[in-house]
Amino acid sequence: MNFEIKHKDAMGRTGILTTPHGMIKTPALMPVIHPGKQTLDVKKFGAEVVITNAYIMYKNDDLRAKVLEEGVHKLINFPGPIVTDSGSFQLSLYGDIDVNNKEIIEFQELIGTDIGTSLDIPTPPFVKRERAEKELEITIERAKEAFEINGDMMMNSVVQGSTFHDLRSKCAETIGAMEFDVYPIGAVVPLMESYRYTELVDVVMASVKKLPDSQPRHLMGAGHPMVFALAVAMGCDLFDSAAYILYAQDDRFMMPRGTFKLANLVEMPCSCSVCSTHTPEDLRAMNKNDRMILIAQHNLNISFAEIRKIRQSIVDGSLMELVEQRCRVHPYLLDALRNLKKYTAIIEEYDPASKNSAFFYSGPESLGRSEIQRHLSRINRIPPKRNLLLLPRSRKPYSKNLHDEFGKFYLKHVKGDSLSDPQDLWDDLQLAVVDVPFAVIPLEIDEVYPLAQNEAPIITDEDAKKFVREEMEKYMERFDNVIISAKILDRFNMYTIELDSGNETSKHPIRVYSLEEYELDAVKIDVEDREKISSIADYQFGMGAGKALFPGDVKIVKSRKTGKIRHIYEGETLIATLRATDSVFVLDREGARRLHSNMEYPKNRVVVNTDADPFAREGKSIFAKFVIDCDINIRSNEEVLIVNEKDELIAFGKSILCGHEIMDFNTGQAVKTRKGGI
Ligand code: GUN
Ligand code: ZN
Repeated sequence: MNFEIKHKDAMGRTGILTTPHGMIKTPALMPVIHPGKQTLDVKKFGAEVVITNAYIMYKNDDLRAKVLEEGVHKLINFPGPIVTDSGSFQLSLYGDIDVNNKEIIEFQELIGTDIGTSLDIPTPPFVKRERAEKELEITIERAKEAFEINGDMMMNSVVQGSTFHDLRSKCAETIGAMEFDVYPIGAVVPLMESYRYTELVDVVMASVKKLPDSQPRHLMGAGHPMVFALAVAMGCDLFDSAAYILYAQDDRFMMPRGTFKLANLVEMPCSCSVCSTHTPEDLRAMNKNDRMILIAQHNLNISFAEIRKIRQSIVDGSLMELVEQRCRVHPYLLDALRNLKKYTAIIEEYDPASKNSAFFYSGPESLGRSEIQRHLSRINRIPPKRNLLLLPRSRKPYSKNLHDEFGKFYLKHVKGDSLSDPQDLWDDLQLAVVDVPFAVIPLEIDEVYPLAQNEAPIITDEDAKKFVREEMEKYMERFDNVIISAKILDRFNMYTIELDSGNETSKHPIRVYSLEEYELDAVKIDVEDREKISSIADYQFGMGAGKALFPGDVKIVKSRKTGKIRHIYEGETLIATLRATDSVFVLDREGARRLHSNMEYPKNRVVVNTDADPFAREGKSIFAKFVIDCDINIRSNEEVLIVNEKDELIAFGKSILCGHEIMDFNTGQAVKTRKGGI
């Protein structure tokens, strides 16, 4: 009975949830099955798990007798994992039900449910705080009771707290500490029904940030494919859909682009088996029930197709590109995406350091993505120099193409007194490119993922201009003198603003020293290999890593085919290899030793217990259950050191999970070991 992560992107994950009746690939959609009237064989559409309602079976004498005798799997004719809800939803509809928490939990266990649910109180959004608090207290009491009386059944424990973020967080923290198997987020149906996606983001993030990373989360009642990608990016793993049938009863087609009424269709909305074999006229001419079944089939087809697309995009590392597309189908979803920006710092902690696909800028919302925030924080790991030369964009990688693009640039003087000798500027000089969306890219690291693996439109929008201007100014603060290309001033509307506004009005007074032009030949645009490897190491592992790894004379071996740096040796000893795909260092034993002896505990480390020590030394991968401590700042897909309890280096490898997850998980791999035998 466990949950294991396979792939990650943003806060989304693909994983495997194991239940007594089999394994479920997540993210998963659980079609809602009415226990009395099953209309469709949902397995055929890709359902690996379904959800049904224990309260309906409990209440109905015939169903109750039958399910108690033959079990829920036989009753609804589904051999795989079955989740049951407790009647809480009926409680929220009718205000009262005839069963208590203990009775419904015991009933669920008796009928052989795989994952049961306690009787939480779904407090609606926007109620008075007093009510939310009072009902939350009961929900938490019932969770505690459920934990005590439950036997072997896997259990849901639902996060409530209405639209009070602190109550959601408090609830998530309290029940999260109680080792339930799945954590649903409840009472969000009213938010989704009224398109209040902005509030949905706040409620989900307030919950997820306090829930354990090691258990799946179920966004209860989310059944519209329009919201799946966004919810997955926030860390939701399970969805349930009664919508496929409810919408069908209303002649409505669900699509990731929205909902379409049969009455308005002149064309079928998709290419599924239903849509490719019927016309809207065919359907309109049918009797109501036949039509309903077909539209429900379409709704299931399209919903499972969306789930598959999401799982693939997590593996590819393009989940946020999908979210950005999906959130453009309705203005309120776009609001939700814009609101998600508030949570970038949290999402960044989970977002893998390296991905299989390039970063595509789809509009100003892309500026809120964690890759950008991470880059702008990590450039501070590179030791500052005295002077800065800011260069305009070129094709990527910049360092290989700048010569083609480069024209003339102007001299600007940022701080200090006027320069007696402008030649002075060319010493101790940091070269950096200014571009959308990563703002400033020091030229030494311009090939590191995703700084070369991204694309943005060349016609720059105003938000991006403002963002880049602000980030550029912050970066410029670190230098005594800044020389800036006129092309940058033009592209980011700085030329007129800065020159016209004079000195006093801008926040960091930038004094134009001279408009004297320099010919291209005056500056060397190349970056020295030594500086390049040192800066990449600092950017990747933290300030000082470059000095630690490459302190003395090193031999830099380049690829004969591409001319790119490949291996760094000292004498005959390999220290590290620069991976061609993302220009990130993969350590060798000597590199791991050097990093370990120069970076203080717990930096870059994953600590394994005594049991795992010999396995790690043999180069076997590290399972999360053997980890007793780690650098909480580790991101997934990073190179990490593996040490024992005495902080002795025993191996090194690549993190599969991030620091928080490594600490929280007890199942699955935490680190893929590259080499032991240190
Ligand atoms: N189904 C939809 N919302 C909820 C909820 O908040 N609690 C439970 N138990 N089921 C739900
Ligand atoms: Zn279709």
